[in-house]
Amino acid sequence: MKTLPGFRDFYPEDCARREFITGTWREVARRYGFVEYDGPVLEPFELFAKKSGGEIAGQLFEFTDKGGRHVSLRPEMTPTLARMVAARSRDYRKPLKWFSVASFFRYEKQQRGRLREFLQLNCDLLGDERPAADAELAALAIDLLRAFGLTREDFVVRLSDRRAWLAFLERKGHGADRAQDFLAIIDKMEREPAETVEAKLREFGCGLSEVRDFIANPADASPEISRVTRNLCQRGLGGFFEIDLTIVRGLAYYTGMVFEIFDRGRTLRALAGGGRYDRLVHHLSDGAADLPALGFGMGDVVLGELIAATPRARVLMETSVRTAGNIDVFVAVADETRRSEALALVQSLRDAGLRVDYPMGPVKLGKQFQSAELAGARHAVLVGTEWPGVKVKELATRTEREMSADAVVADLSSTAAVK
Ligand code: HAM
Repeated sequence: MKTLPGFRDFYPEDCARREFITGTWREVARRYGFVEYDGPVLEPFELFAKKSGGEIAGQLFEFTDKGGRHVSLRPEMTPTLARMVAARSRDYRKPLKWFSVASFFRYEKQQRGRLREFLQLNCDLLGDERPAADAELAALAIDLLRAFGLTREDFVVRLSDRRAWLAFLERKGHGADRAQDFLAIIDKMEREPAETVEAKLREFGCGLSEVRDFIANPADASPEISRVTRNLCQRGLGGFFEIDLTIVRGLAYYTGMVFEIFDRGRTLRALAGGGRYDRLVHHLSDGAADLPALGFGMGDVVLGELIAATPRARVLMETSVRTAGNIDVFVAVADETRRSEALALVQSLRDAGLRVDYPMGPVKLGKQFQSAELAGARHAVLVGTEWPGVKVKELATRTEREMSADAVVADLSSTAAVK
């Protein structure tokens, strides 16, 4: 029986790749002072139906549970995070800098870069409304990708601000209540025929050329964006972004700066997306809590595709995958009469924190060395009748030393600690 469409099996090498990605995510997020949290995989249906909005609302894995509750697997983290923070916002020092690495579920159409279960890193910063926070988050997104060996030649952050469009709409005489419908037109603009876009825009009393002109001259679209870009340039991250007002994001809750990250060649779907959602905590707490917030999600699927297509990044990942299952020590049983001593040694080495393997039954010594090499062991420890103690062989240099079984544990655990 096969997996369901859009779901993946993870064989050990796939797990090693996943670990490479999630381990790097965690390491970089912590470099920025973010701490990890998580929420439930299953939530009340209304949480996402009401709060995610946009495309996601139609992609929910929803069902009625045995207690008659209408529930949904989580398609994204943001509503859960906002609910958690709304419930306990007083308990934490502001700003909150929280990250999470988790699986999400969306009933997507089958297409490249889109699965029905995928991993996402979410990084969110709550309790700071200054553009410096937007810049900090964009810098984190950039550094996350740089940590995989990707450079400004490989990806670009496309920055935008919904407020620029709200001001545009206001000049056309429309209030914020029409914003969602208008932003949906801009969101799809690049994918739809010009006549369709033109017809939709007419309802708002504006023409396609006018909208295109506005997009082409983003320099002073929003003072906040200028502050964010200046901040990024001060960090030396100037080459990593461009302002692109066609980015408005499909989700309902964004209120200010929004961004998406794409590969430079534009052959893949978005690597990451996010923005400011200053009203969501307020809505989810029925007004009891009020915290400005912003964040982004970065998926593992498109990132994996970009890494595979970029030689520098691919080498980093494959090196990590090759060495992921390596052991420290292989204990070779050269003489079966000493097997019980060998077992005791295996146990002591493992107790000392070393990764250890050994043959579980009689095997020719040559074959045992082969197994040691294949497992990437740094050392083989031979337990045989020729020596009173054991013989330790460093496999890379072929140097050999004899020592007592007690000494070998201290000796090898100290070399493992410095590697
Ligand atoms: P999103 O743009 O829906 O944003 O997703 C962010 C990223 O998750 C996408 O750029 C993509 O890499 C990945 N992704 C989304 N759907 C799929 C899929 N079906 N298969 C594979 N990868 C996928 C959000 O989810 C927001 N909640 C992000 C956010 C956090 N905003 C504020 N804080």
